[in-house]
Amino acid sequence: MKLFVALLLCALAISSSFAFDPSQLQDICVAVDQPKNAVFVNGKFCKNPNLTVADDFLFRGINIPRDTNNSVGSTVTMVAVD
Ligand SMILES: *[C@@H]1O[C@H](CO)[C@@H](O)[C@H](O)[C@H]1NC(C)=O
Ligand SMILES: *[C@@H]1O[C@H](CO)[C@@H](O)[C@H](O)[C@H]1NC(C)=O
Repeated sequence: MKLFVALLLCALAISSSFAFDPSQLQDICVAVDQPKNAVFVNGKFCKNPNLTVADDFLFRGINIPRDTNNSVGSTVTMVAVD
């Protein structure tokens, strides 16, 4: 009986630890100009995450070599939500 009570207490303690509020943050933000069907998160209009496609994350032109003849010997191509 003591073992059962101990297991019951553990089960109750563990089950309550998984409760949390829904987060206002999301993992991805595909920026859109039109707020229609968009979700406003962290100051940006983001495409509805349910409607994102793989092409949204494609950046063309990163395969084109750039000049690396500079003091650090490299170049950086910035890609951001904007
Ligand atoms: C995305 O889809 C899920 C499951 O259908 C739904 O619960 C959620 O509200 C949707 N999110 C948005 C931003 O529409
Ligand atoms: C790199 O830059 C230096 C200084 O501008 C120049 O003298 C040199 O010829 C360049 N090297 C190449 C491979 O372009």
